[in-house]
Amino acid sequence: MDSGRHKARRSLHGIMKAIVTREETVDVGEAIRMKRAVRKFSPRKLQEEVVQHILEAGRRAQSSKNTQPWHFLAIQDPEILGSLSELGSYAGHLSGAALGVAILTPDPAQRWSIMFDAGQAAAYMQLAAWERGVASCLATIYEVEAARELLGYPPELHLHAAISFGYPAEPSALTARPKAGGRRSIAEIVSYERWG
Ligand SMILES: Cc1cc2nc3c(=O)[nH]c(=O)nc-3n(C[C@H](O)[C@H](O)[C@H](O)COP(=O)(O)O)c2cc1C
Repeated sequence: MDSGRHKARRSLHGIMKAIVTREETVDVGEAIRMKRAVRKFSPRKLQEEVVQHILEAGRRAQSSKNTQPWHFLAIQDPEILGSLSELGSYAGHLSGAALGVAILTPDPAQRWSIMFDAGQAAAYMQLAAWERGVASCLATIYEVEAARELLGYPPELHLHAAISFGYPAEPSALTARPKAGGRRSIAEIVSYERWG
């Protein structure tokens, strides 16, 4: 084979490998390091493909005994988001989000793993969103009966956490260096082999 054709085949091979391994896309460690809670969003809507990318990440999350104890209620109606934003003391950021995902679960009093699992689905969705330049923030819902009335879910499901998603009002939020002291140090939070 002449060297031009050989080179072309090699670069095609490189592209195929990149597609198969997705090596050109996300660096999970970097996404974890950079992701911040963002509470102010631009009015830009999310494309349906991005919404599905986020929900798919929640669907794929691990859970205790693979029970998948969740139902994700995806809300894009600004009026419903506005009403939901009033049902938690610090849930105001849901108003103005392009998408809110209410994480419905069985009663968390049934077993400790329910909210653990919900938390993992939340984190997966938030990281998948960040990968697409979409920021997010958790919101604790305190007025749970008002939330049930607003959203109409059945008695066996409960709502304690929702997530707002949207493109950040300040795009620099996506690239800002993590603040010094923003997280406790490894020395403070990790022991090796035995306590202390
Ligand atoms: C379980 C849980 C509940 C939270 N509830 C709220 C909330 O009600 N309102 C809010 O604005 N942020 C809420 N947050 C977001 C945290 O305040 C945020 O993740 C934390 O301060 C770290 O922010 P940073 O990643 O920007 O440093 C919640 C986070 C978690 C994990």
